[in-house]
Amino acid sequence: MKIGILKDTNDNRVALLPEGVVALSKLNVSVLVTKSAGEGAFISDKDYEEAGAGVLPEDDVIRESEILLKVNPVEKIQVEKFKEGQVVVSVMNPFFNFELINNLKDKKITSFGMDVIPRTTRAQAMDVLSSMATVAGYKAVLDAAGRLPNFFMMFMSAAGTIRPAKVLVLGAGVAGLQAIATSRKLGAVVEVFDVRAAVKEEVMSLGGKFIEVEGAKDDVAAGGYAVEQTEEFKQKQQQMIQDHAISSNVVICTAQIPGRKAPLLITEDTVGKMKPGSVIIDLAASTGGNCAVTKNDEVINYKDVRVVGNSNYPSDMPVDASRMYGKNLINFLKLIINEEGKLNLDFEDEIIAGTCLTHDNEITNERVKELIK
Ligand code: NAI
Repeated sequence: MKIGILKDTNDNRVALLPEGVVALSKLNVSVLVTKSAGEGAFISDKDYEEAGAGVLPEDDVIRESEILLKVNPVEKIQVEKFKEGQVVVSVMNPFFNFELINNLKDKKITSFGMDVIPRTTRAQAMDVLSSMATVAGYKAVLDAAGRLPNFFMMFMSAAGTIRPAKVLVLGAGVAGLQAIATSRKLGAVVEVFDVRAAVKEEVMSLGGKFIEVEGAKDDVAAGGYAVEQTEEFKQKQQQMIQDHAISSNVVICTAQIPGRKAPLLITEDTVGKMKPGSVIIDLAASTGGNCAVTKNDEVINYKDVRVVGNSNYPSDMPVDASRMYGKNLINFLKLIINEEGKLNLDFEDEIIAGTCLTHDNEITNERVKELIK
């Protein structure tokens, strides 16, 4: 079987690094790579050839491959070239990208969305959302440090003592925990808000100070995820966040409730009261932002506070982001390829079934089916 790597445009990542090509060859499959697919991640066509891949123009990769891989959702023009029965695996954004899902269905493509892999222990090694959130949490802190007119760490010099920066992290999920760890490694003092009291110990073990707002609603049925809070709680929390944001140099926003608009935690009033020169990095920018001032993919200067809405930090760290994405992909491919290197789609497997979006002229994901109706 041949597996094809498509080129991601407007993103520096690539679905598989040359080391991934070597790993796939051990599964008895060969790999075809689209010309210049790796250039954003500093990988040449020669690097892929040396790893054992064939490098071809995109049309040939699509024509010859049984499975096609990409990071971002496949493009309309690519889908037009797909053949019935081909398998495509990428992030698909299926709860919003209805046209793509319908096109894949109509073409009888079997598509898998790496962004809908069930969040179970068994699927952890395939969880690209966690991998990319880890990259984003790390990069967000480095971006903030680069923009801040102060040092992050405390130090003493002949010119006097420099106080450490204060970082406020909102949301202690995957990205938030990485932001805490990175800020601490750079020597900042870190304060953290989250509605789930369960994360308190983890925050403390990373050296962050957990700030509790009483009255948070926790729901066991949400499987460890946050749930929508009451109006009374939201107001109390906004006030407490304001009190802490005013004395912070950096705020990293990572709060989200899966499948919903990002909760609004930093009001315009709060931004206006922050110290001039402070930096807000809003990782939730693409779903509306945790900060009222945020604009997706823009940097706003609001009363001398920089509000950064970069929604694709992984593209700014393409080598390791591609490495992590590729490892997640290979772990998923191992489920759908058998020992002889042949496609083996066992829809009894909850990960395969849960990740599949379209198969044989049907939308297989129940939630997507409901939304598209
Ligand atoms: P996650 O679901 O692991 O963590 C979110 C955390 O927010 C949870 O701990 C939750 O309890 C907390 N939370 C929810 N409501 C809250 C509230 N009202 N107040 C305080 N905390 C609250 O999510 P993950 O994977 O860490 O992603 C975080 C955000 O980063 C998401 O919006 C995601 O889309 C975004 N992201 C951004 C990237 C970028 O480059 N900008 C790349 C990857 C992810």
